[in-house]
Amino acid sequence: MKIFTSILIALLFLPLGHKEPVAEKVSETKPDPILIEKKVDSLLSIMTLEEKIGQMNQYNGFWNVTGPAPQGGDAAKKYDHLRKGYVGSMLNVRGVEQVRAVQKIAVEETRLGIPLIIGFDVIHGYKTMSPIPLAESASWDMEAIESAAQVAAREAAASGINWTFAPMVDISRDARWGRVMEGGGEDPYLGAKIAAARVKGFQGDNLSSEKTIAACAKHFAGYGFAEGGRDYNTADFGTSTLYNTVFPPFIAAKEAGVRTFMNSFNELNGIPATGDKFLQRDILKGKWEFDGFVISDWGSIREMIAHGYAKDGKHAAELAVLAGSDMDMESYLYVAELAQLVRDKKVDETVIDDAVRRILRVKFELGLFDDPYKYCDLEREKSEINSKENHDAVLDVAKKSIVLLKNEGNLLPLDKSGKKIALIGSLAADKNSPLGSWRIAADDNTAVSVLEGMQAYSGNELNYAKGADIAKGPTSFITEIEINEDDKSGFPEAVAAAKAADIVVMVLGELGFMSGEGRSRTTIDFPGVQQELLEEIHRANPNIVLVVNNGRPLDLSWADENIPAIVEAWHLGSQSGHAIAQVLYGDYNPSGKLPMSFPRSLGQVPLYYNYKNTGRPVIPAPNLVFWSHYTDEQNSALYPFGHGLSYTSFAYNKLSVDNAYAQNGTVNVSVEVSNTGKVEGKEVVQLYIRDLYASVTRPVKELKGFELVTLAPGETKKISFPLTHKELGFYDNHGNWLVEPGEFHVFVGGSSSTQYHKTFELK
Ligand code: BGC
Repeated sequence: MKIFTSILIALLFLPLGHKEPVAEKVSETKPDPILIEKKVDSLLSIMTLEEKIGQMNQYNGFWNVTGPAPQGGDAAKKYDHLRKGYVGSMLNVRGVEQVRAVQKIAVEETRLGIPLIIGFDVIHGYKTMSPIPLAESASWDMEAIESAAQVAAREAAASGINWTFAPMVDISRDARWGRVMEGGGEDPYLGAKIAAARVKGFQGDNLSSEKTIAACAKHFAGYGFAEGGRDYNTADFGTSTLYNTVFPPFIAAKEAGVRTFMNSFNELNGIPATGDKFLQRDILKGKWEFDGFVISDWGSIREMIAHGYAKDGKHAAELAVLAGSDMDMESYLYVAELAQLVRDKKVDETVIDDAVRRILRVKFELGLFDDPYKYCDLEREKSEINSKENHDAVLDVAKKSIVLLKNEGNLLPLDKSGKKIALIGSLAADKNSPLGSWRIAADDNTAVSVLEGMQAYSGNELNYAKGADIAKGPTSFITEIEINEDDKSGFPEAVAAAKAADIVVMVLGELGFMSGEGRSRTTIDFPGVQQELLEEIHRANPNIVLVVNNGRPLDLSWADENIPAIVEAWHLGSQSGHAIAQVLYGDYNPSGKLPMSFPRSLGQVPLYYNYKNTGRPVIPAPNLVFWSHYTDEQNSALYPFGHGLSYTSFAYNKLSVDNAYAQNGTVNVSVEVSNTGKVEGKEVVQLYIRDLYASVTRPVKELKGFELVTLAPGETKKISFPLTHKELGFYDNHGNWLVEPGEFHVFVGGSSSTQYHKTFELK
């Protein structure tokens, strides 16, 4: 038997073996899926129950390669598990040397030599950072988004990593939630396109290439609906929202071939997502036929005890595995409890086999069995990371992510010479914040600041004054931030600089770590004394261009009333300052559009353009209060979803609807878009529909198409949108796709606030 097993193992790894060094090129040919299934089955047939469960166990990095192997405590236990083959994956081990060290143990010291899959949160770049995902989404440019994910994948893959916990595809409508920075915003249609683009960017069309990594659609499902915007909180929303708003980006990720899903911390309908059979087995692996694997979120299996769903660790492991969570991230419960659960007949071994089959399948697809060290080439690590090509790519997407919110009197773009410019705000010289949140591998203070970006344009006199710090002391990814609420000692210098200047550029907003996981806020204003600084500078010189750096929509009402030009510049990554300067000076004509609505007041949150009409949408008569409104604020957003200006202007004409649905299943909508200004510009032409009455009520507007069009001054282009059952239907409350006859409005324009529309009837 022993001899037979050894021969079988040898065959599984043939013909490539896994010798060091790995200088020879790994084949870029796609592995044969049928052969993979055969290999998975053979391997499974010789694995012990403990080895199988080991594949379902993921540990956080615990071993410092430069030091000795762990001697005691938790780390020693994990190390021992690794040597026994009881670890299938590790996260937060990075860099060729470190990854090679743990991989060597898995491959050379365990009985079966099954390689580890190495995961990491490569959220918006590895070392070369692209804009935070919310910012990138403002580009509405799927090629740019895909190319940013490619850069991230190439750098991570060169550093030993072969799996990213991205994209986060949670739809988010609540600016208080810190993780809005990590997703594609509030709209399921745009969110679905972005999800697909990011999956394609990370995974390419061949997972076994050494330049691509497996992606992970997260967090399944409903995490973006945390009540009150408080992270990890309960989500509570209806079935219609689940099917029509929450699921679409996950479906798009699955259709784009995403190989893993991560479940979520929240409960929904009283069931923690990690233990939710409906979500993971019925929907994801059942209806959607997903054949990759599902990883829990960090410790989320154990957290089912705190949720009040599992009695103890053993019960939590049982609930999670039966519900379809295939891999345990840092709960340590599968490795501790599953074998006994199988022996006690609480969990059938076929359930374990199914999970392991999924995990092994992805490992084979990655080519890890051909060469477990294929991501461990020191030379490639050196040449790939921070390459000029990568920085050029993230600069490109950074420029495209900037949204011009307001530009009264065409204050922008700035003249390139002959002006005195005061640059004010601590964020203007900040080289760390532009890297954003979720940037674990990035080196601190490596972004180009706005100050540095503007210094590249030397024709003007540039005078920088900090004004005030936002935080007291340094900030980090994991610790609370102490805000500066009182130190205004820098105000006088900033006021003097403003008085002496022709134009003031102020950079205000949030530090990089003020958004992200665990960074929920109850206010969405400028933290600390920044608003006071803004008002004081405004009294000294109102000729202000306000550049906003942030990870979530902020309340910009005062600025909108008082400041002539406002530029939404998010956290734009490594090349931030260059991107902002190129926009301010007009070398790049801004084309971004908001992926989330910016409210007039926090009290409106959650705020989103695709709301339901209610039974009382309009004022019944002057002065009457009995309609759906606030007594102290308008209902509409300050800057709606899809809003964004350009240095030129666009006009929309000749909207036409050719309704051939009865004949060929298509409603053809076309519109003429013209550049009516003086410079070339790019417009995101947006199409929305409204299904006026349906068996499940539909939103007042739904994005169903968009196209980026570049127009020279005076140029006109005709843009066409074919609407089919895919755009005209919706999910009922049982998950069935329906296209119902009736009246529709179709709107086109440069923002979700467009009223330019036509009506057609579906028969
Ligand atoms: C987050 C995940 C992340 C994981 C691993 C969790 O706290 O919710 O999105 O991938 O940690 O770092």
